[in-house]
Order: sequence, then C-alpha cells, then structure tokens
Amino acid sequence: MIKRPRRLRQSKQIRDLIHEVSIDKTDLIYPMFVIDGETEEVVSMPEVYRYSLKDLPNALDKVVKSGVNAVLFFGIPKESDKDEAGSQAYNDNGIVQRAIRLTKELYPDLIVIADICLCEYTSHGHCGVIEGDCVVNDKTLPLLAKAALSCAKAGADIVAPSDMMDGRIGAIRELLDVNGYENTLIMAYSVKYSSSFYGPFRDAADSTPKFGDRKSYQMDFRNKKEAITETQLDIEEGADIIMVKPGMPYLDIAKTVSETFNAPLAIYHVSGEYSMIKAAAQNGWIDEKSVVMESLTAMKRAGAKMLITYYAVNAAEWIGE
Ligand code: PBG
Repeated sequence: MIKRPRRLRQSKQIRDLIHEVSIDKTDLIYPMFVIDGETEEVVSMPEVYRYSLKDLPNALDKVVKSGVNAVLFFGIPKESDKDEAGSQAYNDNGIVQRAIRLTKELYPDLIVIADICLCEYTSHGHCGVIEGDCVVNDKTLPLLAKAALSCAKAGADIVAPSDMMDGRIGAIRELLDVNGYENTLIMAYSVKYSSSFYGPFRDAADSTPKFGDRKSYQMDFRNKKEAITETQLDIEEGADIIMVKPGMPYLDIAKTVSETFNAPLAIYHVSGEYSMIKAAAQNGWIDEKSVVMESLTAMKRAGAKMLITYYAVNAAEWIGE
C-alpha cells in the first residue's frame, strides 16, 4: 500500500487545519532610523527612510495602523556632532532620546526598543572606544551603560545593545537597576556575526568604520559553538530577550540557540537580506510578498518568537489580508 502524505495537502482548508507555524502581527518589530536632519530614502534600501523628527509621527501612524506593536530605533546625529567617544549616544537630548520621548507621548502603548551602540555616534565609526587601532572593551562598557540609561530615561521599554563588547549586558543591567529602571528590558544582540549583509544598514546609519572592520568584536561566521557561549553569558548577565543576527543564512544557529535556551529569541532579518529581496522584486524576478512571508516563516520555524524586519509593516498588512 502506498503511504500518502499528500492526503494532508489536498486542499487549502486541510493545509490550514494542520499547519504548524505561522506569523502573528505581535511577532513583528520594525527598525526605524531617526535623523537629526531632513527625511530621506536610503538609496540601498528602497522604501526605507531616515526620518526627521518632524516626519516621524506620520510614519509611526502607519506602523500603528498596520498592527505592528514594536519599533527599534537607530539614531543618526549630525556628522559634526560625532566625536571619538560617541557622546551623542548618551546625550539626554540626542536625536534618539528625542525620538523616543516623542513616540511615547504620541503612542504610549507602542513598544519602543532603543538600539544601543556607539558606531552611529563615533567619528571613527567603530562600536567602542579606540586606542591605536584597537577597540578597547572595558572603557566602552560605561559609555554603553550610560547610553542605555539615557534611552530608558527617555522612555524606552527595551534597550538592545548591538556592540558585542564583553560584559556589556551586566554593565547595563547594573546601571539601570541602581537608577530605578529595573523594569527596563534588555534585548541582547547575543549572537551577532561579522557579516557583509549589514552593508546597506551602514549606508542608512552612516556607521561604516573609517578604518579596519568589526572582526575583532563581532563573531566569525565559520564558528557555531561561540553562539552558545555568547548567549549563555548574556543570559547570566541579565538579558531578558536574546537575538541571532543575520537571519536567513543563520537559521542553523537560531535553531541551536532556541533549543538550548529558554529566553525568548528574536531573529534580525537584516538590511542586506531586505535589499536583495527588494532588488529582485523590483526587477520582476521574484514575487516580493510570497518570498518575504516564506523567509519570515522559516525564521519562526527555526525557533524565533520575534522577527525584526524592514518588512514588518508590509508583513502585518499581508497577514491581515
Ligand atoms: C550597530 C548595528 C548594525 C546593525 C544593527 N545594529 C550594524 C553593524 O554592526 O555594522 C545591522 C542591522 C542591519 O544590517 O539591518 N552596531
């Protein structure tokens, strides 16, 4: 007798009845760039914008109407405000702090996540303090902690350190707690590989390092065991939510991390992944909507609860259809 797995695929109704994984609007996190300047489209990321504070409310309105419940902010200061120590990252009146306050005034229930890193704010474009050509770990920690505190004070619900310094989760947790921000969550970019898929982001955020690369702090993509070490340390230091980044090329890593740890997992579908889909779609070579939904579903299948994607608003609309 023939075994017939096809019986379970015979109609849409049966397929819908038995399907295992789906995407919920509440899974989606929308990354947004806020700029101390005029709104502009990111050349390498069509339909992604760097928003001025003036235009931010309109953009947020669309996000909220789509049903997306969380945004992840990246601040882009004026070029002339960048310095060696990235001091705009922890200026209470910096661009990201102002964007957070504005967002929370307009939409108190929208979850605001603040990316915590120095690369958008330093004149050299590295994620930490530089001595010679070295990114110095321990001198960077207090600056990251100050940036996190400053964003928490502005109203961020979650801070998300993306720098990959050792010990930053502990340093941030401690400073938040002694200042009375024990309810601010930490979403740790725990497993962040040094990846060429971040190329378009660095255009968007003006954060390309002026010399060298990030290989001495971000992870080597030839390794997988480090993913366990990094996540374990972050959880021990106080991470509430963990992350694997990039997304699609790292589903093996995401699966391992999700099966090893109980903390809710986010996957970051990064800029290069967005731009590849967008470019192919604009050429008519692939169907954008179905490729995006298939990609996001694959990330959930690998074990992600949350999906950080530049397609969040589109995906929410497509889910609603
Ligand atoms: C900042 C940061 C980066 C991304 C998120 N936070 C860039 C980098 O590490 O160079 C990448 C996000 C993306 O590519 O969409 N350190």
